[in-house]
Amino acid sequence: GDSSPKGPFVPTQADYQKVYDTIAARLADETDYDDGSYGPVLVRLAWHASGTYDKETGTGGSNGATMRFAPESDHGANAGLKTARDFLEPIKAQFPWITYSDLWTLGGACAIQEASGPTIPWRPGREDRDVAACTPDGRLPDASKDQRHVRDIFSRMGFDDREMVALIGAHALGRCHTDRSGFDGPWNFSPTLFTNEFFRLLVEEKWTQKKWNGPIQFTDKTTGTLMMLPSDMALVKDKGFKKHVERYAKDSDAFFKEFSDVFVKLLELGVPFKTEDRFVFKTSE
Ligand code: HEM
Repeated sequence: GDSSPKGPFVPTQADYQKVYDTIAARLADETDYDDGSYGPVLVRLAWHASGTYDKETGTGGSNGATMRFAPESDHGANAGLKTARDFLEPIKAQFPWITYSDLWTLGGACAIQEASGPTIPWRPGREDRDVAACTPDGRLPDASKDQRHVRDIFSRMGFDDREMVALIGAHALGRCHTDRSGFDGPWNFSPTLFTNEFFRLLVEEKWTQKKWNGPIQFTDKTTGTLMMLPSDMALVKDKGFKKHVERYAKDSDAFFKEFSDVFVKLLELGVPFKTEDRFVFKTSE
């Protein structure tokens, strides 16, 4: 026979593009969910997997995919994310060489691009860890709180004001579910498209407190069908945040560019990469 060395399978960019394409195809096929796409909940999975990072201790972050395990899977903030993890299981079965932590972050990057968002350059190298690496509850933000809490939580990850505002612009996508967070409704009328609508509506709409028995949230005066969380409203109450909200509301290109940079950073927090190079995946037709 063959005298070529038989080492472990080392995937190339083309192999990861195949994973990307398979996720994208599944997103296009599985439209019988929410507003027609699992994309938003995939973005939320990638963010909650990464947003546990603590820069002081170097713990948490996307490396490990510890949300597979209780107690982390049962943390209140992660309610509903089993939907996203289950959506990616057939992909993991088809490409068993990819780690869950690489797959969940790649799922988020794919979902942003497939929703007509910016390109999200991505690199592999995360390793799955066991239940002992689960992070304590309380590291993800609480939507009922104000700007002080938002700053506390996101500065623990190492982000500045501008980056915090850009990241929360992902609330262009998806909706709140009463059986997950207790909040209800979408932030805008095109929740499967990545746009700067979140910022435009924050600035241009008049928001009033919703009259209902649920948690405090805000509703738009024009239609009464859209929503903002108290933590979203904090972005226009705070001067340091508001200047970026106003900038992104006017300048979609600036939002796309700055969101891409900060989402890449989020997905890489605490990951001991062995490679500098990031892959740019081709978006499907
Ligand atoms: C949904 C809170 C930041 C992406 C939600 C929901 C809440 C929430 C309560 C509704 C969950 C449900 O009921 O299904 C917050 C708070 C944040 C924050 C308090 C910061 C202060 C972010 C960031 C991203 C993000 C940084 C991504 C970069 C999303 C997406 C959804 C969502 C895409 C929609 C999920 C779906 O449609 O199922 N968020 N979030 N959020 N969040 Fe955030």
